[in-house]
Order: sequence, then C-alpha cells, then structure tokens
Amino acid sequence: MKVEAFLDRFFPAGSNPLYQLGAVSFFLFWIIAVTGLYLFIFFETSITGAYQSVESITHEQFYIGGIMRSLHRYASALLALSVTIHLIKELGMKRFQGPRWFSWVSGVPLIWLLFASSLGGYWLVWDEKAQYIALTTAALFDYLPIVVEPMAFGFLDGTTVSDRFFSLLIFLHVGLPLALLLGMFIHIQRISNSSTFPARGLALSLLGAMVVLSVVKPALSLGPADLNRPVQTVQVDWFYMNVFPLISETGAGAAWVILLGITIALLLVPLIFRGVPKPIAIVDPDYCNGCSWCFADCPYDAIYMKPHEKLANHLQSVVVADKCVGCGICAGACPTATPFKSVNNAYSGINLADENNAAILVRTQEQIRQHPQADKHVLVVGCAHGPQIDQLASDVVTPLTLECVGQLPPSYLDYLCRKEGVDSVLLTGCAPGNCFHRLGVELQEARLAHEREPHLRFKDVHVKVTTLWAGAGGETTVARAVAQLQQDERIADAKDA
Ligand code: HEM
Repeated sequence: MKVEAFLDRFFPAGSNPLYQLGAVSFFLFWIIAVTGLYLFIFFETSITGAYQSVESITHEQFYIGGIMRSLHRYASALLALSVTIHLIKELGMKRFQGPRWFSWVSGVPLIWLLFASSLGGYWLVWDEKAQYIALTTAALFDYLPIVVEPMAFGFLDGTTVSDRFFSLLIFLHVGLPLALLLGMFIHIQRISNSSTFPARGLALSLLGAMVVLSVVKPALSLGPADLNRPVQTVQVDWFYMNVFPLISETGAGAAWVILLGITIALLLVPLIFRGVPKPIAIVDPDYCNGCSWCFADCPYDAIYMKPHEKLANHLQSVVVADKCVGCGICAGACPTATPFKSVNNAYSGINLADENNAAILVRTQEQIRQHPQADKHVLVVGCAHGPQIDQLASDVVTPLTLECVGQLPPSYLDYLCRKEGVDSVLLTGCAPGNCFHRLGVELQEARLAHEREPHLRFKDVHVKVTTLWAGAGGETTVARAVAQLQQDERIADAKDA
C-alpha cells in the first residue's frame, strides 16, 4: 500500500497501474496476441528456416517486424511482472478468503500456462538460448515417469530435430496461449463488471514506452542453435527463465518438488488462511420490490432475480450464499432503505445478516444525539479497509465505519443532515480504483453524483457531502480534511452573518 501511495504521486488519478494489474495483464496479453499473429505470418516452421526467418523479421524489416518482435518480447516480460505483482497484491490484501477463493485458485494454473506459452516462444527462435531452454526443459520432463522416450535424447544430435517437431512447437505456442485466454475468462467468472482494460492513458503510455524500448533496444537472437555444440554461456531472461538456474543447480527431481510444492501451497492458501466468515446479505421479501438495483450493483455476481414470492408480476432478489462476500453494497443500492418513509422505519429489502441498515441508522442517530450542542458536526463515514476513523470521535465528529462505503444508501446522508443536524458529511474509504470490494467507491460516487440509482436526493446547502478516498493508512489526511470542513463551515457562517 505504501508503494501504491508512492506511485499515486506520479500517476494521474485512475492511472496507477498497481490498482489495475488484472486489466493491465489482459491488455498485455492482447498486445502479445496481435504481435504474435504478425510474426507468425513470416515465421518458417522448419529446422533450417526458423532461425533465419526470425533474423529476417528482425533486421530486414526492422521498421515493423523488428518492432513487432520486440513488442512481443517486452509485453511478455511485463505480463510476467504484472501477474506476479497482481498475485502478491491479492495475497497481501487477503482477497482469496470466503467466496473469493475461486478467483485465487483459478489464477494459479494461469502461472503455469503463462510460463509454458512464453518458453515455447523462446524455442521457436532456435538460437543458443532456445537450445539451452529446450535441453533443460527436456531434462525436466524426462524425469517424469510419464515420458516414455526421453525427450532430451531427441536433441542429442541435430539430425533428430525434425521440421515436424517445429510444427508441433508452433501448435503448442498457439494452443497454450489460447488455453491461457480461456483460463483468464474462467478466472473472472465470479466477478461482475470486471475491469479487463486499463485506463486509456495508462494503456497508451505502456504501449508507447514499449515501442520506444523496442526501437532503442530491440530484442535480438543469440547465435543459431547447434546441437552438436553445447551452449557455453547464455543470458538468462529473469522473467521466464528464473527457474532454470534452480533446475541446473538442484537437478530435475528437486526442481519438480520445489515447483509443485509452491503450486500446491498457492492452491491451499484460501484453505489455510480462511479468516472469519463474513455475514452475508439476506433478502426480506416483505420489503423487496424487485427493482433489481442490488442485482446490478453486486460486484460478485452473487444476486439473481426470480419471480416474487409475495407480489404478483414482480421480481425478487435472491442471494447466492456461496458467492456473497458480505460487502453490503447491495444494501446501499436498495431504494426501500430510505429513512424518509413514514412507516416501517428504514426497513429494507436486502441487508447484511449481522446488522440491517435500519439498525445502522439508529446506531448513528444515537451517537449524534449524544452531542446535541455540537457546533459544526461532521459525520465521517468510512470502511473497514480504508483509513481507520474511530479515533476521530469527539463532541463534534461522529465516525461511522461500515464494511464498505457502498453499503450506505445515500438517503441516509440526506436524512442525517436534515433531521439530525449534521452540518457536513465526509465519505472516505479505499483509494479510487482500489476498493477492497472492487466497486464500492465507484458506485457510491455515481450515486452521489446522480448518475446511478439510488441517488442522493438533494445536494444543496443542507446536505454537504464531500468524498476523500484516502486509502488505508490515510488517517492523517482524513483528520486534516475534517478540520478543514469545520473551518469552512465557520467561514461560511461568518460570511452569512
Ligand atoms: C494471466 C494472468 C492473470 C490475469 C490476466 C488476471 C486478471 C484478473 C482480472 C482482470 C481480475 C479482475 C479485476 C477486477 O475487475 O476487480 C482479477 C482478479 C483476481 N485475480 Fe487475477 N489475473 C491473473 C492471474 C492471477 C493469479 C496468478 C492470481 C493468484 C494466484 C490471481 C488472483 C486474483 C484474485 C484473487 C482476484 C479477485 C479479486 C477480488 O475478488 O476482488 N490472478 N484477475
């Protein structure tokens, strides 16, 4: 988070790559696909033609082929980097707990597919690096009892590597990335409105930077592979060949144990660090009017609509318990959750099981009423994953921490300002684009801006709502903003007077 906050200084709002690593990975994949298609047109699938065709693409049409080749290489390297940081970030944020296990577990095979796709690409160049990779990989697979005829045997002299073998390699180098793409789509199956394209500025900058790098430092081949001559030294590509020194050092057996051990450990992460189960959302058919707004807002695809069990010609929301992460964003989307109703208090159609929105309202009202004489009363609404706001509590500040800031129906803010004498509201939480529950910040902003239902009814002189998405660790920034709000209120009063 510190690194993210540091990068925030250099990237315009919404462009910090650390907030959109999944989307960046998708974007890089498409660059690799397009450039790969171009290279495929000119590539010769024969033992004698492969190396020469890559050389010709690189040097004879350096203005386009060379750039395409370099882009293919650099985008692949960046993809390895972005996926690694993505994994570390999801791990650090524990976004694998509860129903989120699916995204985590489906992400793990993508690492193998990514490595296999990329190393297959290196083979095709058929230079000394390819020779080293081919022999080391073959040694790795030869260790497995499933390979009947040792693969490495096939590389012992140049005559045994045939053109058909190259056709097989091409088939794998196309097939594996396709399997990777399929895996990527399965990976995002359980999240709705997933972001698969980064901010346009970031995408263009990434592409531009890679084009410049491709011109300044084009990707080149080493000398041609010669299976009669062992490779003496080879430059390791640390993005994809990082396990090769391990294989050379430890031998194939130990390497398999380490690689499979890491894979199994990753797969077991959601089981080992399960965490405390969160209360999920529950629907109350007595209040659900079937508007579908919760269905539209749920970031985890955990709500569907069915015919209403009590109202004819109406729909009713249903929560899929296995998918609900308990973010409460659905409760904030429910239009029946308005305290302005003359009956039923603020009872509403969908709520988190542990505390419904009506109870949250009562809790907040009680806190505010403890300080009836408060001058310039500020209500600070925050979330469990952003800046901690409880320590701000005072005679004039009421903090309200929710699971996600998207859990609060905007009408509550309106109501608390009008009926309970709150002078201004500060909404804080995760940094923009980095909401722990994916869409809470974005959806709440849209509701406040009248761009999404349920919207804030009146944003006028009575209801002053400010947002400050300071992110975890942003306590000081929030405290300063609260003080500033009170100061502004006093200045406004003085002007009025
Ligand atoms: C090619 C590789 C990968 C791609 C393209 C990719 C892409 C994505 C995308 C687009 C999202 C949705 C982001 C959003 O809209 O909120 C996502 C979420 C996620 N990814 Fe990946 N990912 C990859 C690999 C991995 C790996 C290796 C892991 C970990 C083992 C992983 C773990 C997760 C998790 C846990 C989420 C869900 C976060 C949540 O519930 O909010 N991903 N990924």
